[in-house]
Amino acid sequence: MATLKMSISWFFFLQILFSLLSSFAPTNVQGLKVGFYDKSCPKAELIVKKSVFDAMKKDPTLGAPLLRMFFHDCFVRGCEGSVLLELKNKKDEKNAVPNLSLRGFEIIDNAKAALEKECPGIVSCSDVLALVARDAMVALNVPSWGVETGRRDGRVTNINEVTSNLPSPFDNITSLITQFRSKGLGKKDLVVLSGGHTIGIGHCPQITNRLYNFTGKRDSDPNLDTEYAASLRKKCKPTDTTTALEMDPGSFKTFDASYFKLVSQRRGLFQSDAALLDNQETKSYVLKQTKSYGSTFFKDFGVSMVNMGRIGVLTGRTGEVRKKCRMVN
Ligand code: HEM
Repeated sequence: MATLKMSISWFFFLQILFSLLSSFAPTNVQGLKVGFYDKSCPKAELIVKKSVFDAMKKDPTLGAPLLRMFFHDCFVRGCEGSVLLELKNKKDEKNAVPNLSLRGFEIIDNAKAALEKECPGIVSCSDVLALVARDAMVALNVPSWGVETGRRDGRVTNINEVTSNLPSPFDNITSLITQFRSKGLGKKDLVVLSGGHTIGIGHCPQITNRLYNFTGKRDSDPNLDTEYAASLRKKCKPTDTTTALEMDPGSFKTFDASYFKLVSQRRGLFQSDAALLDNQETKSYVLKQTKSYGSTFFKDFGVSMVNMGRIGVLTGRTGEVRKKCRMVN
């Protein structure tokens, strides 16, 4: 009996200690922290996770566009939900060419509606995007990571800011490194996050030049494996604007390190994937991930997602918490 009492009191002691420690979870310089909603909306993360898991049970291919949506939000005006806003005149980010193939906005709406029911006006749309991106990867069996929250939502969206802020599939390594640096991300983040291309699809126009006219002399990209180029030419005729291509053929639904194996074999789909072999640091990361014993990809991915989630955030009294993610309050 006495031992039982002792272990019960230990249990409560540990619980109190744990909740004290978690309320001291460090807030980073920008005012974000893991568990920002623990007190104000304790079920927030569970609610988002349920929306994502329910949707991905029906359509597992949603994982890829939901991950990409967070990247496209963060690189344009920072992670402040501008990619979700809609303007009557359609001059919003959503209507910019690179965003036309984004999908899954209804998952964000559903999660947000459930959150508004549980705790109105508390959880920002930009945090929903960050949590959804993580949960979509967890639904694909990627080990989870702690998402920093506490972002507030922006009030501006501009169609003209998208292509100038997002890297292009035609970019070389110098340009990619510069663009990531301008967002506060390093070469490691660049190569790790490019590993997001282990899932999902691209389209023929993004590689037509690599297949048919690389330097204007009807040649193909010498950095593209010749056998792979031949198989891609069968799928993409020079004027094809619609055919979808698996970025990681054979395992494009599985989040794994096989992207790096492909890149190391000169089978990365885009010039921007192939470019990772043109810098010593990014190349050595790619090669390291091809060794099953050396692969740190999963762990690194969580770290770089957190880094990306810090780009240009609005916190404290800046911005707002939107009621609906598609419009400002
Ligand atoms: C490094 C610079 C990057 C470039 C140039 C780039 C470019 C592209 C392009 C052109 C597509 C094809 C879109 C389509 O045709 O529908 C794509 C797809 C994708 N990208 Fe990237 N991307 C980059 C970085 C990232 C990052 C940082 C992530 C996330 C961590 C990411 C995640 C994805 C995913 C998951 C898809 C597949 C989307 C789908 O299946 O709907 N990309 N990317």
